[in-house]
Amino acid sequence: MTDKFATTDSGAPIPSVEHSLTVGSDGPILLQDHYLIEQMANFNRERIPERQPHAKGGGAFGQFEVTHDVSQFTKAAFLQPGTKTEMVARFSTVAGERGSPDTWRDPRGFALKFYTSDGNFDMVGNNTPVFFVRDPMKFQNFIRSQKRMAANNLRDHNMQWDFWTLSPESAHQVTWLMGDRGIPKTWRHMNGYSSHTYSWLNANDEMFWVKYHFKTDQGIDYLTQEDADRLAGEDADYHQRDLFTAIEDGNFPSWTLHVQIMPFEDAKTYRFNPFDLTKVWPHADYPLHEVGKMTLNRNVVDYHAQMEQAAFEPNNIVPGTGLSPDKMLLARGFSYADAHRHRLGVNYKQIPVNEPQTEVRAYSKDGAMRIRNAPDPVYAPNSMGGPEADPRRASEVHWTSDGDMVRSAYALRSDDDDFGQAGTLVREVLDDAARDRLVHNIVGHVSDGVKEPVLSRVFEYWRNVDPELGKKVEEGVRNGG
Ligand code: HEM
Repeated sequence: MTDKFATTDSGAPIPSVEHSLTVGSDGPILLQDHYLIEQMANFNRERIPERQPHAKGGGAFGQFEVTHDVSQFTKAAFLQPGTKTEMVARFSTVAGERGSPDTWRDPRGFALKFYTSDGNFDMVGNNTPVFFVRDPMKFQNFIRSQKRMAANNLRDHNMQWDFWTLSPESAHQVTWLMGDRGIPKTWRHMNGYSSHTYSWLNANDEMFWVKYHFKTDQGIDYLTQEDADRLAGEDADYHQRDLFTAIEDGNFPSWTLHVQIMPFEDAKTYRFNPFDLTKVWPHADYPLHEVGKMTLNRNVVDYHAQMEQAAFEPNNIVPGTGLSPDKMLLARGFSYADAHRHRLGVNYKQIPVNEPQTEVRAYSKDGAMRIRNAPDPVYAPNSMGGPEADPRRASEVHWTSDGDMVRSAYALRSDDDDFGQAGTLVREVLDDAARDRLVHNIVGHVSDGVKEPVLSRVFEYWRNVDPELGKKVEEGVRNGG
């Protein structure tokens, strides 16, 4: 007899973990061996659809503590001085599948869920401050160009550069991607950015535009292409292993949250469109304000339940925070919850990792795998004392918008173009050694399968970013990579 006896899924003790029930030791298996059938049936259903992008990833639980006073800009409860909030983070690559190597060149996802006292707030960002495209119509096609070809099921650099060079707005993000940020040393050694502009609302109902920057306290570090290639073979789970081991050893990684804050009215006349996701706000215009620190200190105990089933969604905003007119962000507000309904089912917010730590009093009802009871009244308005909307408490952010219905690019501001900020990054942010690595990485990537007419467009693309860089890329590729 043991107190730690194994059970069926319904809690009854099982007689054996080794032998199925048979007629005699050599005889046929019996249908009433429910435990055997339960084991086989469960196994057959273990996999759920992987995330379409960002399939490979991992993360941990932690805490966010506000260390500086930003209450003049936001009334969000979790951003008030001294507040501590439980949270979960998931880091990921974008294009690879669930088993793909952690060290492939790719942006890294930086997804955070804060279990605040006003419901869940999610920041679903990346380790780069900008993105490849600025209209959600192009996102799906962009991701397909980074994944696999239809016939041979291979990834293809020609397809990647074809899309990028036909989409010049990608130049800024591709410059980040081909540089050191494209292969962080570990997840602990990268920053996380909202990339998008979001909004904040203070207690006087004044609105501000904000960008979130989670800066690594471990310092930015990277892998060379050669080290990353070697590691992809030696340890495909290198980043996953690093984070898990660091936390297990009590070496808790942390990030300091800073925000850039733009007064509401500035957005109307700022020299860059402040809602264009391919642009940064130069820090000289909008400096960083420190807010607090996030520390990851608890590993998951069940990767499937707590990471694979984690559902992050940019539409999870709380009073004092909001979205912005960024078209990409507004589209993401729909896309993620839709993905979760497909991947996890309509009641995915009742899975513990996704559950808010506040009481839910919603009018949603039924559906597969509902865990929480939805008692009467099941409709609103009602005269039975059901929960009521409280617009004052919810305090949605609002902005004005007017015009004809069109399909159009953003109107250009005085300093808006596709290549300017990428060129500034190359010339003014990178040092000589980083610029050399950028050339080396581009040449290596392009030399691996990029063909005409895409190839000539690649050279032009980099000449547009920076003439010297373009020249070096062309020379490098023409000289055999
Ligand atoms: C219109 C543009 C975009 C669309 C439609 C989109 C859509 C999606 C979808 C459907 C997923 C899979 C969700 C799931 O199955 O759990 C996903 C994952 C993700 N996306 Fe996006 N995405 C967009 C742009 C972006 C941008 C700009 C960023 C970063 C700034 C980003 C960061 C992420 C991250 C970090 C994940 C993984 C979340 C996790 O760890 O579970 N995406 N995206």
